[in-house]
Amino acid sequence: MKAVIPAAGLGTRFLPITKAQPKEMLPVYDKPAIQYVVEEAVASGIEDILIITGRGKRAIEDHFDRAVELELVLNSAGKSDYLKQLEGISNLASIHFIRQKEQRGLGDAVYCARRYVGNEPFAVLLGDTITIAKVPCTKQLINVFERYSSSVIAVEKVGREKISSYGIIKGKKTGEVYKIEDLVEKPRPKEAPSDLGIIGRYILTPEIFECIEKVKPGVGGEIQLTDALRILKEKQEIYAYEFKGKRYDIGNKLDWLKSSIEIALNNEEIGNELRAYLRKILKS
Ligand code: UTP
Repeated sequence: MKAVIPAAGLGTRFLPITKAQPKEMLPVYDKPAIQYVVEEAVASGIEDILIITGRGKRAIEDHFDRAVELELVLNSAGKSDYLKQLEGISNLASIHFIRQKEQRGLGDAVYCARRYVGNEPFAVLLGDTITIAKVPCTKQLINVFERYSSSVIAVEKVGREKISSYGIIKGKKTGEVYKIEDLVEKPRPKEAPSDLGIIGRYILTPEIFECIEKVKPGVGGEIQLTDALRILKEKQEIYAYEFKGKRYDIGNKLDWLKSSIEIALNNEEIGNELRAYLRKILKS
């Protein structure tokens, strides 16, 4: 299976940091966010990845490329640990890039992948969302896909005050999945059909592309992937799966901070010192 990582968004919620650098390159503890996303795809058994980028996102391409000069310097300085780390990043997977010319929305970004994907089911992992789980989130979805042979999207219960920031599903629970009856992009809490929010991980059948073609600009004037899924569900069953693990939307300042703190707290080298420091400042 191939994976598509949309990372072309403007990141307006994170201005001014995102004025000249992609939000997907923001550090989460010691790695840029998008590296966690690529690592999740690889840990899920995917080795062929397309990243959708846009203007001002070259740092993403550079990050997954070789850094030959740096490698030479590290080599002659005998810093083999750093060297290994760098080589590990550029050898993670077979990574391809394509630019979304205009930021017309997530549906439009996914549509840029149609030739690359061809006629096979594929995974979509949003470049600004990281997940931490025992079994990688995308692998959990692949397991469900193998059972149902239909599109599957990861959902999570979201607080009422946050409902209007998500695509929300209406579904009937059957066993461990919800069979989707409807989906709404960023509804008002009163109009939301449930509190199950779409978190940015999908396994999609290739029929999604013809559905995206039919979508008119929706919320925010954007071509929404949720609206394309609404069309798809009229033709094929779509399932939602409450994934087991934690998820951070790093395009949101608070979530971004939480992700670094939680990952650092679990780090062997600095976790205990950070915990003691946090306790100290919380007391004062
Ligand atoms: P968001 O909904 O967070 O939009 O995108 P955004 O434009 O990046 O951020 P804000 O809302 O302005 O702060 C969700 C994912 O879809 C990608 C983003 O890069 C992110 O990974 N995306 C969004 C695209 O690739 N293209 C688009 O046109 C829109």
